Amino acid sequence: MRVGGTPYRTLWAEGRVVRAIDQNRLPFDFVVVEWRTLEDAAAAIRTMQVRGAPLIGAAAAYGMALGVAEDPSARGLVRARERLLQTRPTAVNLRWALDRVAERVGPLPEAARAEAAFRVAAELCDEDVAVNRALGEHAGGILRRLAREKGTRAGTGRGGAPPLNVLTHCNAGWLATVDLGTATAGIYLAHDQGLPLHVWVDETRPRGQGARLTAWELASHGVPHTVVTDTTAPHLLARGAVDVVLVGTDRTTATGDVANKIGTYGVALAARDNGVPFYVAAPSSSIDFALSDGREIPIEERAPDEVAWVSGRTAAGEIAAVRVLPEDSPTLNVAFDVTPARLVTGIVTERGVAPASREGLAALFPERAG
Ligand code: MRU
Repeated sequence: MRVGGTPYRTLWAEGRVVRAIDQNRLPFDFVVVEWRTLEDAAAAIRTMQVRGAPLIGAAAAYGMALGVAEDPSARGLVRARERLLQTRPTAVNLRWALDRVAERVGPLPEAARAEAAFRVAAELCDEDVAVNRALGEHAGGILRRLAREKGTRAGTGRGGAPPLNVLTHCNAGWLATVDLGTATAGIYLAHDQGLPLHVWVDETRPRGQGARLTAWELASHGVPHTVVTDTTAPHLLARGAVDVVLVGTDRTTATGDVANKIGTYGVALAARDNGVPFYVAAPSSSIDFALSDGREIPIEERAPDEVAWVSGRTAAGEIAAVRVLPEDSPTLNVAFDVTPARLVTGIVTERGVAPASREGLAALFPERAG
């Protein structure tokens, strides 16, 4: 995607230096950081300089490459994998990417491992972009169909068709991937093809990925959007202001249960109660065919300070953090929830749209379903 007219990916390597857009600085500052060591990559994932399931996977792959460059022995490979696995528990893309690198690099002589690991990481990044494009075409098809139906319903088939109102939660945009995004891929492709769209962007407390990142992306790309507090989404759904919900996922089970940013489950419940379709954009790297029940998905809990403190830009232009809770009030910061398959209208993958069920996912990915 373009930033100020220049095309960017979220992550790339120049030689053995990895560069990434620092998402903790957005939307106020656009800063590219450098990782030169395994520890740089691990810390960047942990502190959410890079975040979003597919990007966590890509970053972990480069983390492995940096680790192997430091120590190409079998012990070094294990150490790098273990270190990166500790960074964030919920997105299964992390383990998927680490396994990909380890499987390709492990059988090689030590002297060839680092170069091969960087090559595999770069391939994985290219693959992510291709997967998102394919997924976006399928999601775009859904959006076009819903827009046609809405135009018909509203009786405005010709001329001023009303925009299709899409609601999204968190950031499943290009910043959450190497490029294009998962949930946003369909939005960008449909928008670029002239489909009138408007996106409701859930703020996504406590870290504000919707308000800070999705809104910045959509604004940069010229997609009409409105940021709302998380608690507003059910009201919008009840008022008929949302035609479709489209979110990403950090881990989806073989049976179609979907872990995504905290708050997604509530949106899904309200969507079901109001008869609004709820779609999940899930590249196959985020489907965990080893799990059959969403309750088995490890759910990350993050630091209490993320709830207690809010940061932003002051009127004077400085970035500042302020405490928004009484000093003595404890907090709980659960980062993800699980939406059961029964609330999911469909899972949009790079191979097409599957019903949220074991049979539906297995039909699209028979080689992985076992
Ligand atoms: O904690 P984050 O910001 O890494 O959480 C990200 C999400 O929950 C996204 O919706 C998910 O990773 C899908 S990204 C394409």
